[in-house]
Amino acid sequence: MTAVRPETTVQPASDTSFPTGFVWGAATAAYQVEGAATEDGRTPSIWDTFSHTPGKVRNGDTGDIAADHYHRYRDDVALMKDLGLKAYRFSISWPRVQPTGRGPAVERGLDFYRRLTDALLEAGITPVATLYHWDLPQELEDAGGWPHRDTAHRFADYAALAARALGDRVGMWTTLNEPWCSAFLGYGSGVHAPGRTDPAATLRAAHHLNLAHGEAVGALRTNLPSSAQVSITLNLHQVRPLTGSPEDAEAARRIDAVGNRIFTGPLLDGAYPEDLLRDTAHLVDWDELVRAGDLAEISRPLDVLGVNYYAPTVVSLPADGAASTRDDGHGASDHSPWTGSEQVAFHLANDDLTAMNWAIDASGLHTLLTGMSARYPGLPLMVTENGAAFDDYVSPEGRVEDPQRIAYLHSHLDAVRRAIADGADVRGYFLWSLLDNFEWSYGYSKRFGAVYVDYPTQRRIPKASARWYAEVIRNNALPA
Ligand code: NOJ
Repeated sequence: MTAVRPETTVQPASDTSFPTGFVWGAATAAYQVEGAATEDGRTPSIWDTFSHTPGKVRNGDTGDIAADHYHRYRDDVALMKDLGLKAYRFSISWPRVQPTGRGPAVERGLDFYRRLTDALLEAGITPVATLYHWDLPQELEDAGGWPHRDTAHRFADYAALAARALGDRVGMWTTLNEPWCSAFLGYGSGVHAPGRTDPAATLRAAHHLNLAHGEAVGALRTNLPSSAQVSITLNLHQVRPLTGSPEDAEAARRIDAVGNRIFTGPLLDGAYPEDLLRDTAHLVDWDELVRAGDLAEISRPLDVLGVNYYAPTVVSLPADGAASTRDDGHGASDHSPWTGSEQVAFHLANDDLTAMNWAIDASGLHTLLTGMSARYPGLPLMVTENGAAFDDYVSPEGRVEDPQRIAYLHSHLDAVRRAIADGADVRGYFLWSLLDNFEWSYGYSKRFGAVYVDYPTQRRIPKASARWYAEVIRNNALPA
């Protein structure tokens, strides 16, 4: 069964407007917003275990309550309607709907997503479901996790189950969110759940995530109407060499291999890149890992490619190998153990930083979109995440003024608009995030929301940026 491609969009009419039908959205993820961690049959995921392990998450924060979206979804959908959102990207919690990662579905868990999507549809908002935003059922991790091949098959079963339950109301599906983070942060640097630090396991995880995606695409196509759209979301690093030196070019090549082409190669070109296999041959036996038929499975055609963008990745490779590795803020330095004996150093692109210490540089988003559209013509793109954390606070008048976020969104949306004008096929944009939420190992200390969450009371306060975004959506254009 092949899905129908989204309608071709019209080019922008003026230099501030977006194509007719451009999808304006906002995104969240289950563990980051839902809370209700033990309700209705939900069992622990690797993030429950990790966040409850002392020292893993800032301030000992957990997703036990988060933004309590599980109970407040109706109010949150009303907020989305007020903002004029056309689409809402959320993720389904695997341990909520299939607690042990295998076997039959838990209907009470699925009911939450039925209620949520009904409310969205009633409000005229298109639901966009991600199957995996990092919350692997703990039982599957105990059985070996992503480095274990069987996890991929379990994921395909879960995809089929979710599609059968929700396919009548959800038409846009994403298999995995940022599999690079699942593999490299989860099994490499260990800063994300499950917190393992094993180079071979990292690469095995990457392959099995790719395989899980491919098998899930098959399961979705079998169980969804032919009009459904299927995608994956990647955080493609915008890798830049620090200087024009051959060493820095080599650093960029290596990081592009382990940061990007380890996914785009098998997914979109049908093969792992030769240089990646060479760079990592001492860590893993690729001939044993990649079995006959895997690449055909992984490279099943997609309807849309989701891309998340926050900041560029600047790298260098000092000839003496003695560089100090500096975190570029998005965990990109977590590549370094897998790039060979020399140490790749990471740098900030500039000193204009968000609260995450990520450099603000919208040109990376333009390059990402135009580059991918040129490389893969015929594959529509969707910006599935973009946004920024700043140190927001509520004024005595009860307002949250966030001019820096407005400036960030403005420059990045302008980059999207220019990319479209330059020929990139970009169908929509999802702001990260609708709500302040659990920012993984940073806990609640970082606020990405367009809507402020006062955690003690769970009160929602739309920030100035939410009002600004609503205006952009209303006009289908940026302010002049
Ligand atoms: C990407 C992830 O998908 C999301 O979960 C996270 O909160 C944002 N980046 C910000 O770090």
